[in-house]
Amino acid sequence: MSAALVIEHLTVRFGAVTVIHDVSASFEAGRVHAVVGRSGAGKSVLMKAAAGLVPRASGVVRVQRPPLVFVHQDPALLDTLSVRENVAFAAAHARGLSRADARARADQALVRFGLGAVADAAPGALATALQKRAALARAACLRPGVLVVDEPTTGLDPEAAAAVDEALALLPSEGTTLIVITHSPRTIARLAPRLHRVDAGRLQATA
Ligand SMILES: Nc1ncnc2c1ncn2[C@@H]1O[C@H](COP(=O)(O)OP(=O)(O)O)[C@@H](O)[C@H]1O
Ligand SMILES: [Mg+2]
Repeated sequence: MSAALVIEHLTVRFGAVTVIHDVSASFEAGRVHAVVGRSGAGKSVLMKAAAGLVPRASGVVRVQRPPLVFVHQDPALLDTLSVRENVAFAAAHARGLSRADARARADQALVRFGLGAVADAAPGALATALQKRAALARAACLRPGVLVVDEPTTGLDPEAAAAVDEALALLPSEGTTLIVITHSPRTIARLAPRLHRVDAGRLQATA
């Protein structure tokens, strides 16, 4: 098996409090993974530490094909830019792309994620599900080797959640290994991921 992401003996502390305890995990390339566990278990901190967004006290993280991109729960789109400009901004930062190629990549992502009709809208004018799809399109533009998405459907009504699930299902295609942090049985049913269960800062099981 080739691993898209390997975490070895990862420990994270906030002050005197240890939140992640010596976690080792391997995420097989080309599969979809779900990180599950109850609220406060350490799912976000574990994956943020893997992404380098939270400092680690110890441990090693190896990414087979960078970049590893982390999509936060909050879509955090830039409100002074249109949806297209938000996505194009990320595409422009993908290494080695000309401006024309970046724009083409952004337009392709907008269509793929069903955002063609709202490309010129301000993100704030869109329903949450569309904002989340835009955040996923923006991340996909970076062609990440590993894409971690934190609770993409939490707080959404079933219809909006289904729209986001549909977008998630598009992500594993282009050589991206998708890791979704989720509580949603529907997302899990749809993506049929390998499950990594976190409890009290420890990895309980992989199934
Ligand atoms: N920046 C922080 N500073 C201190 N404690 C934090 C911080 N972020 C998270 N924690 C704590 O770490 C634990 C795990 O949080 P988190 O990974 O966000 O849980 P979840 O599994 O719900 O994603 C929780 O007890 C939380 O309060
Ligand atoms: Mg979380």
